[in-house]
Amino acid sequence: MKAIAINGSARAGGNTEALLQKCLSVLAAEGITGTMTNLSDKTIHPCTACGACFKNKDNRCAAHDDAFQEIYDAMREADIIVLGSPVYFGSASANITALLDRAGYVARANGNVFARKLGGPFAVARRAGQNFTLAQLMFWFMIMDMVVPGSSYWNMGFGRNKGEVNEDEEAMDTVTRFAENLAWLAKKIHP
Ligand SMILES: Cc1cc2nc3c(=O)[nH]c(=O)nc-3n(C[C@H](O)[C@H](O)[C@H](O)COP(=O)(O)O)c2cc1C
Repeated sequence: MKAIAINGSARAGGNTEALLQKCLSVLAAEGITGTMTNLSDKTIHPCTACGACFKNKDNRCAAHDDAFQEIYDAMREADIIVLGSPVYFGSASANITALLDRAGYVARANGNVFARKLGGPFAVARRAGQNFTLAQLMFWFMIMDMVVPGSSYWNMGFGRNKGEVNEDEEAMDTVTRFAENLAWLAKKIHP
């Protein structure tokens, strides 16, 4: 079983990455390997609504940039997809919504290829906006026909400067329980 964590922050090594890394390390302890994909060093343009994905049905996006296709293919291969975003002005980052718009449209053009994969959302903010951002990401998981387990709280953390979220004990506990639930579910589904 494979997991992919996608960090929608514009900076690597920050708080979103710390939460996602915690999730990956709990999964690893449960025997599920995973990789981290940072969008900060990649260019992913927004969807152009060209409709080529529905015409061609080849699991490809006609808009070519340096990273989309590689990430989309890795998402297709993964059994577990976790998505993290910092809160930017109360919302998910443009980096991650550009990816999700395109990945979601190509996936739906090809028979909803993420259906019944497992996953879940993560959000970090200095002060406010995690709930709305989590909801944005949850809408994507739900329409992708995916399965999202719960936890002891919502997968959110507080932090402004890089690494501050590591001091947010409840966030780390929530992510730990979420990752344990992911692993528990994954093993039930793929015994
Ligand atoms: C453009 C921008 C907008 C932001 N908007 C908010 C906001 O609406 N609410 C908030 O609490 N923090 C906001 N922040 C702070 C970040 O959410 C916070 O620093 C977070 O830890 C960044 O995650 P990262 O370390 O993964 O980059 C904003 C930061 C940036 C760069």
